[in-house]
Amino acid sequence: MAKKVQFSSKIGLIAATVGSAVGLGNIWRFPAEVQANGGSSFLLVYVLCVFILGIPVMLSEFALGRGGGSDAAGSFVKLGARKGWQAVGYLVILASYLILCFYTVVGGWTFEYMVQSITGHLYQPVAGVTDVKGMFTAHMNEFIADDWNPLINTYIMIGLTLAVLLGGVQKGIERVSNVLMPVLFTLLLAFCIVSLTLPEAQKGVEFFFKPDFSKISMSMILSALGQAFFSLSLGMGILITYASYFPKRANLTRTAFIVSILDLLVAVLMGIIIFPAVLSFGLENESFQGATLVFVTLPQVFNHMPGTQIWSTLFFLLLLVATLTSIISIAEVSVKFLCDRFKMRRRNACFVVLMPLFLFSSICSLSMGSLSHIQILGRNIFDFLDNLTSEYMLTIGAMATCIYMGWFAPKGLLIDELTNRGSMRSNLGPFFLFVIRWVAPVLIGIILFSNIFK
Ligand code: PHE
Repeated sequence: MAKKVQFSSKIGLIAATVGSAVGLGNIWRFPAEVQANGGSSFLLVYVLCVFILGIPVMLSEFALGRGGGSDAAGSFVKLGARKGWQAVGYLVILASYLILCFYTVVGGWTFEYMVQSITGHLYQPVAGVTDVKGMFTAHMNEFIADDWNPLINTYIMIGLTLAVLLGGVQKGIERVSNVLMPVLFTLLLAFCIVSLTLPEAQKGVEFFFKPDFSKISMSMILSALGQAFFSLSLGMGILITYASYFPKRANLTRTAFIVSILDLLVAVLMGIIIFPAVLSFGLENESFQGATLVFVTLPQVFNHMPGTQIWSTLFFLLLLVATLTSIISIAEVSVKFLCDRFKMRRRNACFVVLMPLFLFSSICSLSMGSLSHIQILGRNIFDFLDNLTSEYMLTIGAMATCIYMGWFAPKGLLIDELTNRGSMRSNLGPFFLFVIRWVAPVLIGIILFSNIFK
């Protein structure tokens, strides 16, 4: 029998999982949510969501993946689940593949912006536009709506992902994560230091950290739950897949805490970077939504700073690293599925997963340019896929996984996995089981319900 593929070290396992979790969710979605929901109270609610819901749901996926030892669908089969549960696995794998189609496009944008920062093109005036904001907006709209340029960048991202995945779990994913994660944290810390020395740093920090309880509302709690879900990569099959590479002796509870806390830390560091910066340069009323924060607002900040191009390059490098490690993890879901389900060789599986992206990602990219007339339910293809996956498919997948792990999985599986088959204690085990059985399905159900009737 072939030797079981595993991450080779504790650090590598954590770096890879954190690499997946830390992505655009932390860097641009989180600050936008904080801004839209009135500042620090969102942070407070978000932290509670991570600990009360995020970590238990993460553990249910870890236990399923390591217990089943196979891909996101196969793990259900290995645990003897009825056919219907396998469908949950297929749903999750499909969702992950759809996300892959448009996330590679966004990854391409970050690559292009890094290159444009190096060459200085991003900071060059645009004919007919006099104000700085207008200039970056024009740059962004022109670039995104262009046909060829985003495509080339998307292909570069697909190529990079392919190169890493062909290297395998240890020599590809783990090794790259071991290098890129320290780079990411170093860059974040450097930006934090700079931001905290800006003139209005204190105001920014206050806006971010001083809670105003009157701002807490049901809709904010739902946004925080949704954010925790996306940011921790829940319901995408990634954690199930990666956990199948965890050694039997790995401590799942500790891993879930470390990954979630580091993911939270990145979000908090981003808040510390962004709010002082935008307040110092009078940009607090600018939109943070969508791509605007990183492609329009932040370049205005860099434009004010000495060493504009250097900071800009480093920031887009940070974004690129965060995006690439997430893309790798989400592509691995399908690669592992093909290897396990169809006994494909890894090399072939990587090609079968990534080659069609040259078509699918192109369609997503062009849907913001010359294919923008194709609308599904009032949205272009890119936005439709984003909405379909994050609002419906991921939530259904995660809810079903919790219901399976809480009620239908072999008796004692969760606790067995948390205690490494009884070889250590898990004081929090009963709490996690309770959340997975009762709290998570209800809360995720409410998120789903509110998405449907929004
Ligand atoms: N947690 C990731 C993020 O914050 C979510 C993600 C993972 C998205 C993998 C795409 C691919 O961006």
